[in-house]
Amino acid sequence: MNSKLISLFSVILAVFFAGCADQPEENSAEPVLHAVTAEWTADGVVSDGEYAQKMILSGGIFEVHWKNDAEMLYMAIKGETDGWVAIGFEPEVWMKDADMIVGWVDDGEVSALDAYSTGNYGPHPPDTDLGGTDNLLEIGGSEKDGFTVIEFKRKMDTGDKFDKAFESGQTVSMIWGVSEFDDPEERHIEAGKGELAFQ
Ligand code: HEM
Repeated sequence: MNSKLISLFSVILAVFFAGCADQPEENSAEPVLHAVTAEWTADGVVSDGEYAQKMILSGGIFEVHWKNDAEMLYMAIKGETDGWVAIGFEPEVWMKDADMIVGWVDDGEVSALDAYSTGNYGPHPPDTDLGGTDNLLEIGGSEKDGFTVIEFKRKMDTGDKFDKAFESGQTVSMIWGVSEFDDPEERHIEAGKGELAFQ
């Protein structure tokens, strides 16, 4: 009887863990910390030691790499797509009031918008259309092997009301999206949310 119970229990455990293996990866992941050993360059390549932290979300459909000091934020967003990739900071609800960066590479030409979502599901016009300013100080990107990478640099506190102001030590909510189109008016095929912490 006891051995039957043990076998039954083992089967239940095996089924449980097999089930877990099939689950999609958690959308929100703990950031991984690295020593920064390489210079930041907006070349569309996430190099070893270039960023201090990274999160890989939805099994690698989206990645974010970042480092910051009190004044400046450096970030790379990488999506499994030839279309746009985007990150949004501190939405109020759904996408609304998120401070967004939407970037894409079209025939080798890199574009990135400093944008702001005015509604629950967009639109997310550039800050400049809303009376704000473009605060992306440097951008770069690449499109290779089915992945698009956008790198950018901005001030932690840009002074623009369409950018969220960040502080060292702060944790912020973030959303992300990946589209199959280069047109930022087209919606995403994948999206998710998480949290990231600044050093
Ligand atoms: C014009 C472009 C966009 C359109 C038309 C759009 C539309 C939508 C719609 C209709 C939803 C509702 C849920 C769904 O059906 O998936 C949604 C959800 C969402 N969108 Fe967008 N979106 C756009 C751009 C973006 C961008 C640039 C981001 C990231 C920076 C983003 C992040 C999200 C997230 C994270 C959700 C899910 C929110 C939640 O579950 O709380 N979207 N979007």
